[in-house]
Amino acid sequence: MSDEPLVLGIETSCDETGVGIVRGQTLLVDTVASSVEEHARFGGVVPEVASRAHLEAMVPTIERACREAGVQLRDLDAISVTSGPGLAGALLVGVASAKALALALGKPIYGVNHLASHVAVDIVEHGPLPEPTMAMLVSGGHSSLLLVPDVTNDVRSLGSTMDDAAGEAFDKVARVLGLPFPGGPHVDRAAREGNRIAIDFPRGLTTGRDMERHRFDFSFSGLKTAVARWVETRQRAGETVPVADVAASFQEAVVDVLTRKALLACKEHDVDHLLIGGGVAANSRLRALAEERCARAGVTLRVPRPGLCTDNGAMVAALGAQMVAKGREPSDLGLPTDSSMPVTLVQA
Ligand code: KG4
Ligand code: ZN
Repeated sequence: MSDEPLVLGIETSCDETGVGIVRGQTLLVDTVASSVEEHARFGGVVPEVASRAHLEAMVPTIERACREAGVQLRDLDAISVTSGPGLAGALLVGVASAKALALALGKPIYGVNHLASHVAVDIVEHGPLPEPTMAMLVSGGHSSLLLVPDVTNDVRSLGSTMDDAAGEAFDKVARVLGLPFPGGPHVDRAAREGNRIAIDFPRGLTTGRDMERHRFDFSFSGLKTAVARWVETRQRAGETVPVADVAASFQEAVVDVLTRKALLACKEHDVDHLLIGGGVAANSRLRALAEERCARAGVTLRVPRPGLCTDNGAMVAALGAQMVAKGREPSDLGLPTDSSMPVTLVQA
Protein backbone atom coordinates (compact mmCIF):
# COMPACT_ATOMS: atom_id res chain seq x y z
CA MET A 1 0.00 0.00 0.00
CA SER A 2 1.18 3.48 -0.86
CA ASP A 3 1.01 6.16 1.82
CA GLU A 4 0.39 8.84 -0.78
CA PRO A 5 -3.07 10.41 -0.46
CA LEU A 6 -5.84 8.87 -2.56
CA VAL A 7 -8.21 11.65 -3.59
CA LEU A 8 -11.37 11.74 -5.70
CA GLY A 9 -12.05 15.07 -7.42
CA ILE A 10 -15.38 16.36 -8.74
CA GLU A 11 -15.66 19.15 -11.32
CA THR A 12 -18.99 20.68 -12.41
CA SER A 13 -18.27 24.37 -12.97
CA CYS A 14 -19.44 24.44 -16.59
CA ASP A 15 -20.73 21.75 -18.96
CA GLU A 16 -18.38 18.89 -18.08
CA THR A 17 -19.17 16.45 -15.28
CA GLY A 18 -15.64 15.40 -14.38
CA VAL A 19 -14.61 12.78 -11.85
CA GLY A 20 -10.93 11.98 -11.43
CA ILE A 21 -8.94 9.93 -8.95
CA VAL A 22 -5.33 10.73 -8.11
CA ARG A 23 -2.88 9.01 -5.78
CA GLY A 24 -0.25 11.55 -4.76
CA GLN A 25 1.07 12.76 -8.12
CA THR A 26 -0.24 9.83 -10.13
CA LEU A 27 -3.41 9.97 -12.16
CA LEU A 28 -5.44 6.77 -11.79
CA VAL A 29 -8.49 7.73 -13.80
CA ASP A 30 -10.12 10.74 -15.45
CA THR A 31 -13.77 10.31 -16.47
CA VAL A 32 -15.71 13.09 -18.13
CA ALA A 33 -19.34 13.24 -19.22
CA SER A 34 -19.95 16.33 -21.32
CA SER A 35 -23.26 18.01 -22.14
CA VAL A 36 -21.63 20.09 -24.90
CA GLU A 37 -23.84 18.58 -27.62
CA GLU A 38 -26.98 19.66 -25.78
CA HIS A 39 -25.75 23.27 -25.91
CA ALA A 40 -24.54 23.29 -29.50
CA ARG A 41 -27.82 24.44 -31.04
CA PHE A 42 -27.87 27.45 -28.68
CA GLY A 43 -24.32 28.49 -29.65
CA GLY A 44 -23.25 28.61 -25.99
CA VAL A 45 -23.65 26.82 -22.65
CA VAL A 46 -27.19 27.07 -21.19
CA PRO A 47 -26.80 27.01 -17.37
CA GLU A 48 -30.06 25.16 -16.56
CA VAL A 49 -29.35 22.50 -19.17
CA ALA A 50 -25.85 22.04 -17.72
CA SER A 51 -27.14 21.67 -14.13
CA ARG A 52 -29.65 19.02 -15.13
CA ALA A 53 -27.03 17.12 -17.12
CA HIS A 54 -24.68 17.15 -14.09
CA LEU A 55 -27.45 15.69 -11.92
CA GLU A 56 -28.03 12.87 -14.37
CA ALA A 57 -24.34 12.16 -14.97
CA MET A 58 -22.97 12.44 -11.43
CA VAL A 59 -23.60 8.99 -9.94
CA PRO A 60 -22.78 6.99 -13.10
CA THR A 61 -19.59 9.02 -13.59
CA ILE A 62 -18.42 8.43 -10.00
CA GLU A 63 -19.20 4.72 -10.34
CA ARG A 64 -17.33 4.49 -13.63
CA ALA A 65 -14.28 6.29 -12.23
CA CYS A 66 -14.06 3.94 -9.22
CA ARG A 67 -14.57 0.87 -11.39
CA GLU A 68 -11.93 1.86 -13.94
CA ALA A 69 -9.41 2.80 -11.24
CA GLY A 70 -10.14 -0.30 -9.16
CA VAL A 71 -10.78 1.93 -6.16
CA GLN A 72 -13.36 1.44 -3.41
CA LEU A 73 -14.89 4.66 -2.07
CA ARG A 74 -13.97 3.65 1.49
CA ASP A 75 -10.25 3.62 0.53
CA LEU A 76 -10.25 7.34 -0.33
CA ASP A 77 -8.36 9.73 1.92
CA ALA A 78 -10.29 12.83 0.85
CA ILE A 79 -12.88 14.26 -1.52
CA SER A 80 -12.01 17.38 -3.50
CA VAL A 81 -14.54 19.50 -5.37
CA THR A 82 -14.66 22.71 -7.40
CA SER A 83 -16.38 25.32 -5.24
CA GLY A 84 -15.94 28.14 -7.80
CA PRO A 85 -15.75 30.07 -10.00
CA GLY A 86 -18.37 28.82 -12.47
CA LEU A 87 -22.08 28.52 -13.13
CA ALA A 88 -23.94 28.72 -9.80
CA GLY A 89 -26.39 25.87 -10.37
CA ALA A 90 -23.77 23.62 -11.91
CA LEU A 91 -21.36 24.16 -9.00
CA LEU A 92 -24.13 23.31 -6.53
CA VAL A 93 -24.58 19.84 -8.02
CA GLY A 94 -20.88 19.04 -7.63
CA VAL A 95 -20.53 20.48 -4.13
CA ALA A 96 -23.72 18.79 -2.87
CA SER A 97 -22.51 15.45 -4.28
CA ALA A 98 -19.07 15.87 -2.69
CA LYS A 99 -20.62 16.74 0.67
CA ALA A 100 -22.87 13.68 0.53
CA LEU A 101 -19.86 11.46 -0.20
CA ALA A 102 -17.72 13.06 2.51
CA LEU A 103 -20.48 12.78 5.09
CA ALA A 104 -21.43 9.20 4.24
CA LEU A 105 -17.80 8.03 4.14
CA GLY A 106 -16.55 10.13 7.05
CA LYS A 107 -13.79 11.63 4.84
CA PRO A 108 -12.38 15.19 4.76
CA ILE A 109 -13.58 17.49 1.98
CA TYR A 110 -11.60 20.18 0.16
CA GLY A 111 -13.54 22.85 -1.73
CA VAL A 112 -11.03 24.22 -4.24
CA ASN A 113 -10.66 26.91 -6.89
CA HIS A 114 -11.24 25.82 -10.49
CA LEU A 115 -8.40 27.98 -11.81
CA ALA A 116 -5.81 26.70 -9.33
CA SER A 117 -6.91 23.19 -10.36
CA HIS A 118 -6.13 23.98 -14.02
CA VAL A 119 -2.57 24.73 -12.82
CA ALA A 120 -2.24 21.76 -10.42
CA VAL A 121 -3.22 19.19 -13.05
CA ASP A 122 0.15 19.49 -14.74
CA ILE A 123 1.72 17.82 -11.69
CA VAL A 124 0.22 14.47 -12.77
CA GLU A 125 1.56 15.03 -16.28
CA HIS A 126 4.98 16.64 -15.81
CA GLY A 127 5.81 16.26 -12.10
CA PRO A 128 6.15 18.78 -9.26
CA LEU A 129 5.57 22.44 -10.07
CA PRO A 130 8.62 24.68 -9.85
CA GLU A 131 7.93 27.40 -7.29
CA PRO A 132 7.17 29.93 -8.55
CA THR A 133 5.57 28.98 -11.87
CA MET A 134 3.95 31.43 -14.28
CA ALA A 135 0.57 30.16 -15.44
CA MET A 136 -1.58 31.35 -18.30
CA LEU A 137 -5.12 29.97 -18.28
CA VAL A 138 -7.08 30.40 -21.47
CA SER A 139 -10.51 28.85 -21.90
CA GLY A 140 -14.10 29.66 -22.81
CA GLY A 141 -14.68 31.17 -19.39
CA HIS A 142 -11.34 32.63 -18.35
CA SER A 143 -8.11 34.24 -19.55
CA SER A 144 -5.69 34.91 -16.72
CA LEU A 145 -2.03 35.35 -16.10
CA LEU A 146 -1.08 34.00 -12.68
CA LEU A 147 2.10 34.04 -10.65
CA VAL A 148 2.01 30.84 -8.61
CA PRO A 149 4.51 30.57 -5.72
CA ASP A 150 2.48 27.71 -4.17
CA VAL A 151 -0.58 26.25 -5.90
CA THR A 152 -2.09 25.15 -2.55
CA ASN A 153 -2.19 28.59 -0.95
CA ASP A 154 -0.46 31.35 -2.88
CA VAL A 155 -1.81 32.23 -6.32
CA ARG A 156 -1.41 35.84 -7.48
CA SER A 157 -3.29 37.43 -10.34
CA LEU A 158 -1.16 39.55 -12.67
CA GLY A 159 -3.92 40.18 -15.17
CA SER A 160 -7.02 38.84 -16.85
CA THR A 161 -9.37 39.64 -19.69
CA MET A 162 -11.30 42.91 -19.55
CA ASP A 163 -14.10 41.52 -21.74
CA ASP A 164 -14.30 38.23 -23.69
CA ALA A 165 -12.28 35.19 -22.66
CA ALA A 166 -9.89 33.90 -25.34
CA GLY A 167 -12.01 30.81 -26.04
CA GLU A 168 -15.14 32.94 -26.18
CA ALA A 169 -13.50 35.04 -28.91
CA PHE A 170 -12.70 31.84 -30.86
CA ASP A 171 -16.32 30.68 -30.45
CA LYS A 172 -17.77 34.03 -31.58
CA VAL A 173 -15.47 34.37 -34.58
CA ALA A 174 -16.28 30.79 -35.56
CA ARG A 175 -19.94 31.76 -35.61
CA VAL A 176 -19.20 34.75 -37.87
CA LEU A 177 -17.36 32.37 -40.21
CA GLY A 178 -20.22 29.85 -40.18
CA LEU A 179 -18.25 27.20 -38.27
CA PRO A 180 -19.90 24.98 -35.59
CA PHE A 181 -19.83 25.44 -31.77
CA PRO A 182 -17.54 25.18 -29.87
CA GLY A 183 -15.59 27.02 -32.50
CA GLY A 184 -11.99 26.89 -31.24
CA PRO A 185 -11.00 23.55 -32.81
CA HIS A 186 -12.74 24.49 -36.10
CA VAL A 187 -10.93 27.83 -36.34
CA ASP A 188 -7.68 26.04 -35.52
CA ARG A 189 -8.28 23.53 -38.35
CA ALA A 190 -9.40 26.16 -40.89
CA ALA A 191 -6.38 28.33 -40.01
CA ARG A 192 -3.94 25.59 -41.05
CA GLU A 193 -4.89 26.25 -44.69
CA GLY A 194 -4.73 30.02 -44.30
CA ASN A 195 -2.21 32.85 -44.33
CA ARG A 196 -1.70 34.32 -40.85
CA ILE A 197 -0.38 37.62 -42.15
CA ALA A 198 -3.16 38.06 -44.74
CA ILE A 199 -5.11 40.51 -42.56
CA ASP A 200 -3.61 42.75 -39.90
CA PHE A 201 -6.16 42.42 -37.09
CA PRO A 202 -5.74 44.55 -33.91
CA ARG A 203 -3.69 43.34 -30.90
CA GLY A 204 -5.69 44.51 -27.87
CA LEU A 205 -3.97 46.28 -24.95
CA THR A 206 -0.47 46.09 -26.38
CA THR A 207 0.55 49.69 -26.97
CA GLY A 208 1.45 52.86 -25.09
CA ARG A 209 -0.77 53.70 -22.15
CA ASP A 210 -2.56 50.36 -22.30
CA MET A 211 0.75 48.65 -21.56
CA GLU A 212 1.17 50.90 -18.52
CA ARG A 213 -2.31 50.44 -17.10
CA HIS A 214 -3.16 46.95 -18.37
CA ARG A 215 0.28 45.41 -18.76
CA PHE A 216 -0.87 41.83 -18.20
CA ASP A 217 -4.56 42.21 -18.99
CA PHE A 218 -6.20 41.06 -22.21
CA SER A 219 -9.03 42.34 -24.39
CA PHE A 220 -10.48 40.35 -27.27
CA SER A 221 -13.78 42.06 -27.92
CA GLY A 222 -12.29 44.73 -30.22
CA LEU A 223 -10.61 42.00 -32.24
CA LYS A 224 -13.85 40.04 -32.49
CA THR A 225 -15.67 43.16 -33.74
CA ALA A 226 -12.89 43.89 -36.24
CA VAL A 227 -13.22 40.37 -37.67
CA ALA A 228 -17.03 40.67 -37.88
CA ARG A 229 -16.74 44.06 -39.70
CA TRP A 230 -14.13 42.74 -42.11
CA VAL A 231 -16.32 39.75 -42.99
CA GLU A 232 -19.50 41.86 -43.30
CA THR A 233 -17.79 44.30 -45.67
CA ARG A 234 -16.79 41.43 -47.99
CA GLN A 235 -20.24 39.87 -47.82
CA ARG A 236 -21.99 43.16 -48.58
CA ALA A 237 -19.76 43.65 -51.61
CA GLY A 238 -20.83 40.20 -52.80
CA GLU A 239 -17.30 38.82 -52.44
CA THR A 240 -16.52 35.37 -51.06
CA VAL A 241 -14.99 35.36 -47.59
CA PRO A 242 -11.54 33.71 -47.43
CA VAL A 243 -12.41 31.70 -44.31
CA ALA A 244 -8.96 30.12 -43.88
CA ASP A 245 -7.14 33.48 -44.10
CA VAL A 246 -9.55 35.17 -41.69
CA ALA A 247 -9.24 32.26 -39.24
CA ALA A 248 -5.43 32.24 -39.46
CA SER A 249 -5.09 36.03 -39.12
CA PHE A 250 -7.54 36.16 -36.20
CA GLN A 251 -5.84 33.26 -34.45
CA GLU A 252 -2.45 34.89 -34.92
CA ALA A 253 -3.70 38.11 -33.28
CA VAL A 254 -4.91 36.14 -30.22
CA VAL A 255 -1.87 33.92 -29.73
CA ASP A 256 0.59 36.74 -30.47
CA VAL A 257 -0.82 38.81 -27.59
CA LEU A 258 -1.13 35.83 -25.24
CA THR A 259 2.43 34.62 -25.70
CA ARG A 260 3.93 38.11 -25.77
CA LYS A 261 2.35 39.07 -22.43
CA ALA A 262 3.06 35.70 -20.81
CA LEU A 263 6.75 35.93 -21.66
CA LEU A 264 6.95 39.55 -20.56
CA ALA A 265 5.48 38.45 -17.21
CA CYS A 266 8.09 35.69 -16.93
CA LYS A 267 10.88 38.16 -17.65
CA GLU A 268 9.67 40.87 -15.29
CA HIS A 269 8.98 38.43 -12.44
CA ASP A 270 12.14 36.44 -13.10
CA VAL A 271 10.27 33.15 -13.58
CA ASP A 272 11.68 30.49 -15.91
CA HIS A 273 8.71 28.09 -16.15
CA LEU A 274 5.52 28.87 -18.06
CA LEU A 275 2.47 26.63 -17.82
CA ILE A 276 -0.43 27.03 -20.25
CA GLY A 277 -3.79 25.48 -19.40
CA GLY A 278 -7.49 25.70 -20.30
CA GLY A 279 -9.25 24.59 -23.47
CA VAL A 280 -7.47 27.09 -25.74
CA ALA A 281 -4.12 25.51 -24.77
CA ALA A 282 -5.12 22.80 -27.26
CA ASN A 283 -4.64 25.37 -30.05
CA SER A 284 -1.88 24.23 -32.37
CA ARG A 285 -0.62 27.70 -33.24
CA LEU A 286 -0.60 28.80 -29.57
CA ARG A 287 1.52 25.77 -28.72
CA ALA A 288 3.92 26.36 -31.62
CA LEU A 289 4.40 30.07 -30.99
CA ALA A 290 4.71 29.57 -27.22
CA GLU A 291 7.40 26.92 -27.82
CA GLU A 292 9.28 29.20 -30.20
CA ARG A 293 9.17 32.24 -27.92
CA CYS A 294 9.90 30.27 -24.73
CA ALA A 295 12.93 28.64 -26.33
CA ARG A 296 14.23 32.04 -27.37
CA ALA A 297 13.71 33.42 -23.85
CA GLY A 298 15.18 30.42 -22.01
CA VAL A 299 11.82 29.60 -20.42
CA THR A 300 10.65 26.00 -19.98
CA LEU A 301 7.15 25.50 -21.35
CA ARG A 302 4.69 23.08 -19.70
CA VAL A 303 1.40 22.28 -21.40
CA PRO A 304 -0.72 19.36 -20.15
CA ARG A 305 -2.11 17.02 -22.82
CA PRO A 306 -5.35 18.39 -24.38
CA GLY A 307 -7.69 16.15 -22.31
CA LEU A 308 -6.22 17.61 -19.13
CA CYS A 309 -6.35 21.20 -20.43
CA THR A 310 -10.12 21.22 -20.85
CA ASP A 311 -12.30 20.95 -17.73
CA ASN A 312 -11.96 17.60 -15.98
CA GLY A 313 -12.10 15.92 -12.58
CA ALA A 314 -8.43 14.91 -12.51
CA MET A 315 -7.38 18.52 -12.06
CA VAL A 316 -9.54 18.86 -8.96
CA ALA A 317 -8.23 15.57 -7.57
CA ALA A 318 -4.65 16.67 -8.33
CA LEU A 319 -5.08 19.89 -6.36
CA GLY A 320 -6.85 18.02 -3.53
CA ALA A 321 -3.96 15.56 -3.30
CA GLN A 322 -1.51 18.48 -3.06
CA MET A 323 -3.63 19.98 -0.27
CA VAL A 324 -3.50 16.71 1.68
CA ALA A 325 0.21 16.18 1.00
CA LYS A 326 1.03 19.69 2.22
CA GLY A 327 -1.05 19.20 5.37
CA ARG A 328 -3.62 21.88 4.57
CA GLU A 329 -6.74 21.85 6.78
CA PRO A 330 -9.86 20.49 5.04
CA SER A 331 -12.81 22.76 4.29
CA ASP A 332 -15.86 22.87 6.55
CA LEU A 333 -18.60 20.43 5.55
CA GLY A 334 -20.85 23.47 5.18
CA LEU A 335 -18.56 24.96 2.52
CA PRO A 336 -20.29 27.27 0.05
CA THR A 337 -20.21 27.45 -3.71
CA ASP A 338 -18.92 30.77 -5.03
CA SER A 339 -19.70 31.47 -8.66
CA SER A 340 -17.28 34.42 -8.70
CA MET A 341 -14.60 32.94 -6.43
CA PRO A 342 -11.49 35.13 -6.76
CA VAL A 343 -8.51 33.39 -8.31
CA THR A 344 -6.39 34.32 -5.30
CA LEU A 345 -8.56 32.18 -3.00
CA VAL A 346 -7.35 28.61 -3.53
CA GLN A 347 -9.65 26.94 -1.00
CA ALA A 348 -13.21 27.65 0.15
O1 KG4 B 1 -11.42 24.71 -20.65
P1 KG4 B 1 -12.64 24.50 -21.52
O2 KG4 B 1 -12.97 23.10 -21.94
O3 KG4 B 1 -13.93 25.02 -20.83
C1 KG4 B 1 -14.04 26.26 -20.19
O4 KG4 B 1 -13.74 26.33 -18.98
O5 KG4 B 1 -14.41 27.20 -20.91
O6 KG4 B 1 -12.43 25.44 -22.80
C2 KG4 B 1 -13.34 25.46 -23.87
C3 KG4 B 1 -12.90 26.54 -24.83
C4 KG4 B 1 -13.91 26.80 -25.95
O7 KG4 B 1 -14.09 28.19 -26.07
C5 KG4 B 1 -13.22 26.20 -27.18
O8 KG4 B 1 -13.59 26.83 -28.37
C6 KG4 B 1 -11.77 26.45 -26.84
O9 KG4 B 1 -11.67 26.17 -25.45
N1 KG4 B 1 -10.89 25.56 -27.61
C7 KG4 B 1 -9.99 26.00 -28.53
C8 KG4 B 1 -9.39 24.85 -29.09
N2 KG4 B 1 -9.92 23.75 -28.49
C9 KG4 B 1 -10.83 24.20 -27.58
N3 KG4 B 1 -9.68 27.24 -28.92
C10 KG4 B 1 -8.74 27.36 -29.88
N4 KG4 B 1 -8.13 26.32 -30.47
C11 KG4 B 1 -8.41 25.05 -30.12
N5 KG4 B 1 -7.80 24.03 -30.72
ZN1 ZN C 1 -11.86 25.69 -16.92
